[in-house]
Amino acid sequence: MKLSIVVPTYNERENLPLLVKRLKDSLEGVEFEMIVVDDDSPDETWKLAEELRKDYPFIRVIRRIDEKDLSTAVLRGFEESHAEIVAVMDADLQHPPEKLRDMLNRMENADVVVGSRYVDGGEIEEWGILRKFYSKFATLLAHIFVPRSRVVKDPMSGFFMLRRDVIEDVELNPMGYKILLEILAKGKYRRVEEEAIKFRRREKGESSLNMGVQLKYIRHLIKLAWETGEIYRMMKFAAIGLTGVFVNLGILWLLTEKVGIYYLISAVFSIEASIISNYFLNDIWTFRDRKEKGIKRWMGRLAKFNVVSLPSFPMQLVVMGILKEIFGVYYILAAVVGILVVFVWNFVANSLWTWKGSN
Ligand code: GDD
Ligand code: MN
Repeated sequence: MKLSIVVPTYNERENLPLLVKRLKDSLEGVEFEMIVVDDDSPDETWKLAEELRKDYPFIRVIRRIDEKDLSTAVLRGFEESHAEIVAVMDADLQHPPEKLRDMLNRMENADVVVGSRYVDGGEIEEWGILRKFYSKFATLLAHIFVPRSRVVKDPMSGFFMLRRDVIEDVELNPMGYKILLEILAKGKYRRVEEEAIKFRRREKGESSLNMGVQLKYIRHLIKLAWETGEIYRMMKFAAIGLTGVFVNLGILWLLTEKVGIYYLISAVFSIEASIISNYFLNDIWTFRDRKEKGIKRWMGRLAKFNVVSLPSFPMQLVVMGILKEIFGVYYILAAVVGILVVFVWNFVANSLWTWKGSN
């Protein structure tokens, strides 16, 4: 068997016949199977799948009685498959089956191929501006918390293909309904490609993923950040930020008291000194795995780090001022919140820009 297409279903009776037909038509000549993993749908999708199997022998049906969960359904499909290449797609025709062939062709020199809405030629039909914004924002969070996911523009896609060795002996956590993200975080791959897809409108039935998934998503991201050491990186960054405060104050005191420089002039030097020492430490410790070699690159990163640090000071003051003056927050607490905001800004901007890595 060359290709297994895992299709999780829940109440997709209306979509299944057309999906099956389009799979057959577009994969002519390919040795493939379709693994339908149905969670005992009330509309009896599993039963229809069994019936369709008579005309379309490439269908395999797994009916799960005791579980209802998209991610464990996909993992179950993986377990059932013995093919060299495994694909995952939705049953509701939002993912064009005709793209599977192009994705398969790309597998010639890739380990993972993602059906992407965010590369040139990709598109999302129907979604309003707000939903698109949420999706983009969620993608940005994935890129921050799981840097390995930066290999693709659309790590949230539910349409993808991979070589089975990518997940061999890899423990995938079913908590995330974003299985692709889980795979990009933990999988054993080198080459990843994206195939542009148009994410179609759902014509029949309705989406079963509700608001609860958003909270689950954040928890999933934090869990992945723990498992991959990204949280540890954030802690290093924070610790170095703290040393910077002491460098700043120490040099300020030295220049003002011992050298006799006017304190505001001293402050300019002490602030820059702390920025440089922070940069130096982050470069050799926090982000040592993500830097490109060479003195020119090193200088470039130093410049970026300075640019990122620039707004920190006014940002801290503005947050403090707003919290205290408008919301009446105690000024020490306002300062703590200000420091947190500045920390988030610095980490995110430096992670995405200064040390964005070579991908
Ligand atoms: N077995 C099983 N169990 N299948 C399920 C379950 C479940 O509990 N819930 C949903 N499915 C199936 C649906 O039948 C469909 O084939 C597929 O999973 C996707 O479900 P939808 O309800 O259509 O999800 P969506 O359109 O909101 O989200 C899709 O697009 C997102 C991208 O924005 C999914 O592909 C997401 O994974 C993807 O992130
Ligand atoms: Mn859908």
